Amino acid sequence: MAEIETFPDAASLARAAANQWVALAEASMARHGQFSVALSGGSTPRALYSLLAASEFAARVDWSRLHVFWGDERCVPPDDPESNYRMARQALLDHAPIPLSNVHRIPCEQGPRQAAAAYEQTLHAWFSGGSAGRRVESDLPRFDLILLGMGEDGHTASLFPGAAALGERTRWVVAYKVVTLGAWRVTLTPLVINAAAHVMFLVSGANKAEKLRQVLTGPYRPDELPAQIVRPTRGHLVWWVDAAAASALAGA
Ligand code: 6PG
Repeated sequence: MAEIETFPDAASLARAAANQWVALAEASMARHGQFSVALSGGSTPRALYSLLAASEFAARVDWSRLHVFWGDERCVPPDDPESNYRMARQALLDHAPIPLSNVHRIPCEQGPRQAAAAYEQTLHAWFSGGSAGRRVESDLPRFDLILLGMGEDGHTASLFPGAAALGERTRWVVAYKVVTLGAWRVTLTPLVINAAAHVMFLVSGANKAEKLRQVLTGPYRPDELPAQIVRPTRGHLVWWVDAAAASALAGA
């Protein structure tokens, strides 16, 4: 059974996740001098990001040694309301003392495939850059933390049901047109997600409850339930959920 942390509501979930972020950042910086985190998009993490920008949390983080990446991005300009970068910038990055050079966004304005190639180069450069804290293990970038959400269809990052990216065996980042959305996305592949030291799913709301039950307790079928493909090879996966999202789980 997966490791699940359940909280009464979205606000207490966000607060607990913010405390965990700070704890992981402190531990990573103590261990290897930096903290690399890939942010998730959508709406759920906004409350977490806003909390992290608040002084009670921001003051506990050495932002000069914290590097922000993204797990996925919509192929829109960085100032587009759909942009995951824009959401994180508005909720967190514009309010925390993080150096611009520590923010490594996916450059979707270059076009999907070019953005994926450029972002993969960014990961290669940063994770094998030789300085403390930049780590590549078994030739894969090892994020200290990857934040993930889960859609109502069981997707995570931009790994949607039926996506060829679910079976990607060499590339770290791919771009493809999501049929159900009729839109292009850029996403980390399962290879990179499963190389992370820590993976935190943040799932909130009754609308996710049935899919969460299928993902956590049903048969393993990641092509239909992409969130199931997240099984860190040498990392720690925890599902951080509120009571509404957990309401279909046994014993809820
Ligand atoms: C994105 C996200 C995606 C998100 C889920 C859940 O770009 O949309 O990265 O994987 O986490 O769709 O989104 P909500 O938090 O809005 O439900």
